[in-house]
Amino acid sequence: MLNAREIIDIYISFFEKRGHKRIENSPIVPQNDPTTLFTSSGMQPLVPYFLGELHPMGKRLVNVQNCFRAQDVDEVGDNRHITFFRMLGNWSLGDYFKSEQIPWFFEFLTKGLGLPTNKLYVSVFKGFDDIPKDEESAKIWKNLFENAGINSQNRIFYYGPKQNWWSRSGIPKDMPIGEPGGPDSEVFFDLGIEHDKKYGERCHINCDCEKFLEIGNSVFMEYKKIRNNDFEKLSQKNVDFGGGLERLLAAIENKSDIFQTSLFSPIIKAIENETGKKYEDHKKEMRIMTDHFIASTFITASNITPSNKEQGYILRRLIRRGFDNFYQIGGKEITSIIESIIGQYKETDPDLDQKFENIKNTILEEEQSYLTTREKAKILIEKKYKIGDELKGVSTISSDDAFLLYSTHGLSPTQIKSLGYEFNEQEFAKKMEEHQKLSRAGAQKKFKGGLIDNSEMSIKYHTATHLLHAALRKILGSHVEQKGSNITVERLRFDFSHSEKLTDEEIRQIEDLINEKINENLPVTFEIVDKEEALKSGALGFFTEKYADKVKVYIINGFSKEICGGPHVDFTGKLKRFTIIKQENIGHGQRRIYAKLEN
Ligand code: SER
Repeated sequence: MLNAREIIDIYISFFEKRGHKRIENSPIVPQNDPTTLFTSSGMQPLVPYFLGELHPMGKRLVNVQNCFRAQDVDEVGDNRHITFFRMLGNWSLGDYFKSEQIPWFFEFLTKGLGLPTNKLYVSVFKGFDDIPKDEESAKIWKNLFENAGINSQNRIFYYGPKQNWWSRSGIPKDMPIGEPGGPDSEVFFDLGIEHDKKYGERCHINCDCEKFLEIGNSVFMEYKKIRNNDFEKLSQKNVDFGGGLERLLAAIENKSDIFQTSLFSPIIKAIENETGKKYEDHKKEMRIMTDHFIASTFITASNITPSNKEQGYILRRLIRRGFDNFYQIGGKEITSIIESIIGQYKETDPDLDQKFENIKNTILEEEQSYLTTREKAKILIEKKYKIGDELKGVSTISSDDAFLLYSTHGLSPTQIKSLGYEFNEQEFAKKMEEHQKLSRAGAQKKFKGGLIDNSEMSIKYHTATHLLHAALRKILGSHVEQKGSNITVERLRFDFSHSEKLTDEEIRQIEDLINEKINENLPVTFEIVDKEEALKSGALGFFTEKYADKVKVYIINGFSKEICGGPHVDFTGKLKRFTIIKQENIGHGQRRIYAKLEN
């Protein structure tokens, strides 16, 4: 039977044989994308290329992408949901479309992986407003089934935008202006279990009863939102395919529970050994633990540490929730479980092995910090309720105090209860809802505020980053190397190797040099060349892809030459004026600069 590694190999070579070039697994914490904390699908770093930017590796791409979906965290615990997964992706950037993609995927499933055709079911888009029903895909599927000797009746189902439309922000109504999206066609695998009537009289492929498992999604990305409810066709028709490796493995092994596949079952075994409890009796706790510690392992390996902000906050919540479930089933010592996770993933992600000590220490330190927080929360409550000199004995607290523990100590209602406190839950839920409304509004504003995107201002900041990189090397020396970059529509942030604080004079020289190049209104052009040739010619490239043989080199006439995917402005004059607003020491011999452009 095929294991996870073999599925990856078969997948990549299947699409390489059909003219696709393999591209790198992008960092799980994205660079230059302030709109999202994590890479949650393989297409995310490719958005500019759907919109028309040229990709140096051509129009057919394939990869395996590590993904994390924070939005699925509450779903974990059933037989199929996980927050960290590997996505098999292939893309056509204005090249082939439905009549190649659908038969290829069908061939990959049935011939490449050997899945039985009679277990496959598909969905297609039923249309919405001005966007028509996808009869073309339905017809292609019909032919494929019938040619394989399978009656196509009751195999192909139409659904609306909630199920069969894909964009980074979901259904058409939720998409910001400028965002690309399109109808999709999904493939489901029949796990062969009985329909549970709890979920409705009749079973269907999108039923919640766990009988059908979605194993792949081909998005026909050919639209862009231009106004409320209004879409126009993109200048090119794209395909964005994504399939979850862990689910494909479940289909191959015919397991109705992905946690029982050969990838996860050794980890579950390690939890059983450590706690002395049986998976059969504690499925939910063991599934949550497994998922959360796997996700924590990968997020920690990307140099994130638990904190109260952004990615660090999500990591903190994952580790603490993982421990809640671990303690609930009597767990004490986590190390053997982390070892087992790394053992299962190191074949595809060898760097995890070298990072083991760091991953383990980060998780153990966070466990200590969680235990301290719990202790402090207890002291706060007991002091407040003044039980003589002894800090003990409070069992019921007000919903205000429960909320205080949530907002100041980050403890969830379940975690507060695990400290032994009861409270009035409805009032708490009301406060929590208000609080979440506010933070959701903040998050939405952030999304609207700046798409990685194609917004004019982020493109300008992208070019400004190249000017800054070149200017730093000219003024401070060629030891300066880019270590990180983050762009919003309001500023750029740039991390680089340099151990001393920049003097006021150095800052002035850097700004003057950049503004001189802006005033010269230099053309910004690119060429696509062999990677080796690019590096030999002196192009800067500290993040060059492992798989790339061709790269795109952006040239700012006579001043900067850098390997980069783009997009950029065409002339530096568009940047108007550049000002450094702050510098910071970020440790490890690195400094961080924040800079602004005039609007
Ligand atoms: N972007 C689509 C998804 O994430 C297909 O790759 O499902």
